[in-house]
Amino acid sequence: MKLHRTPHPPTCDREISSAEFWSSSFAEREETFRWLRENAPVSWHPPLEDPEVPASVHGEAGFWALTLAEDISFVSRNHEEFSSELGMPYLPPRAPGQPTMAPSILELDPPRHTDYRRALSSAFMPKTVRLLTEKIEQRAEQIVDRVVGAGSFDFVAEVSSKLPMLTVADLVGIPEDQINSFAEAGNNLVERHDPETLEKLPAGVTLQDWTNQQVGYLMGMGVELAEARRARPADDVMTRLVTTDVVGRTLNNEDIGIMMVLLSVAGNDTTKQTTSHTVVNLARHPEQRNWLLEDFDGRIMGAIEEFLRYATPVLHFARTATRDVTIRGTEITAGDKVGLFYCSGNRDSTVFSDPEKFDITRPPSKHVAFGGGGVHYCIGAGVAKAQLRALFRQILTKLPDLEVGEPEQLIGGGMNGIKRLPVTAGKATARW
Ligand code: HEM
Repeated sequence: MKLHRTPHPPTCDREISSAEFWSSSFAEREETFRWLRENAPVSWHPPLEDPEVPASVHGEAGFWALTLAEDISFVSRNHEEFSSELGMPYLPPRAPGQPTMAPSILELDPPRHTDYRRALSSAFMPKTVRLLTEKIEQRAEQIVDRVVGAGSFDFVAEVSSKLPMLTVADLVGIPEDQINSFAEAGNNLVERHDPETLEKLPAGVTLQDWTNQQVGYLMGMGVELAEARRARPADDVMTRLVTTDVVGRTLNNEDIGIMMVLLSVAGNDTTKQTTSHTVVNLARHPEQRNWLLEDFDGRIMGAIEEFLRYATPVLHFARTATRDVTIRGTEITAGDKVGLFYCSGNRDSTVFSDPEKFDITRPPSKHVAFGGGGVHYCIGAGVAKAQLRALFRQILTKLPDLEVGEPEQLIGGGMNGIKRLPVTAGKATARW
């Protein structure tokens, strides 16, 4: 099948492909997405500009942008016509020959995906998640206790970034003394397109080298853990992963290494960004913070859905059409890349009333922050919600006078990211 078609369809005159577009704020980008939803919900665009893979090498023609929640769900739930394996499920173009390692679960279709998902599911079984939740609650308390009365500090470094990495570490059994370097490598991967990272690259190291170094480090860590559990099995997730026959064989070192790379990003930065955005949003809406505190246990789970919708930490993913399909009268040809813009789906006024308004009292409706459903729907959704519940219980009750400054936006990486958030926490213990 031809993956890079020519001639390509007429290009939409609203551009969403440049690095400049993705450097603007979420609200500025949303003006374009609103226009697309209303006027061209399925539109063709040139390939995303990517500092790692210049246009001269990737040879991609472009992609279809799907901007309505309904279409994002349709494609996400239809893996036979929209593959994650045929092309790559990411919007930035890939250079020929990439990736150099075996595909992760995100990059597979059934039946291979089903096998790997079953293997990974052992880490998300109810008993495991229950035990993990107890640990999450203890960790959340310790994290917030450390900053009570701390004065001015960066909320991202001291609070938002801590719990997700500790949770993934607890999940797979990363030793305490390696947790920080695990998180650092994961963050380096997510932040690699930010101009600050590009400026700080060591002399003679290209962005591709830098990326490979982080991936190599994380894979090595996974292999070490896997080998340790094969030698000394324990009652934990890693032991189950390396000893159970789930893909017609037990998972090998490479499988485990790739899982570590995926978890370091998928399980780490997403929850971190949701936390940072929500702290900003609740500070801007004290009446909602008070409403939540009036009945925290009764209201938090509904509120979390709005935290996620509003933050939409993962901005987009992609699929490749396996056959010709028509969506809203537009013919998508086999081999075409299709971008799923969760950031747009979560502002779709046909699903959410006043979609641009942060409103934790809104009735439950289906956001696409965890994907549009289907086989790749986020496997860590329950774990992410457990973290948000535990952390906001602590933040709201123990940091009553938190003053929240201006967030600094993370650029690139397909994330709605905040890289720094200055805050001040006094010693007061009264509730908000
Ligand atoms: C706020 C937090 C999170 C958000 C917004 C989020 C978002 C997503 C999205 C959009 C996808 C892709 C869905 C698709 O392609 O249809 C995904 C997949 C995935 N997520 Fe999450 N995620 C979060 C937390 C987590 C956590 C905590 C973990 C693990 C500890 C995790 C592990 C995964 C994995 C392994 C996949 C791949 C699943 C598959 O391909 O079958 N995520 N997530």
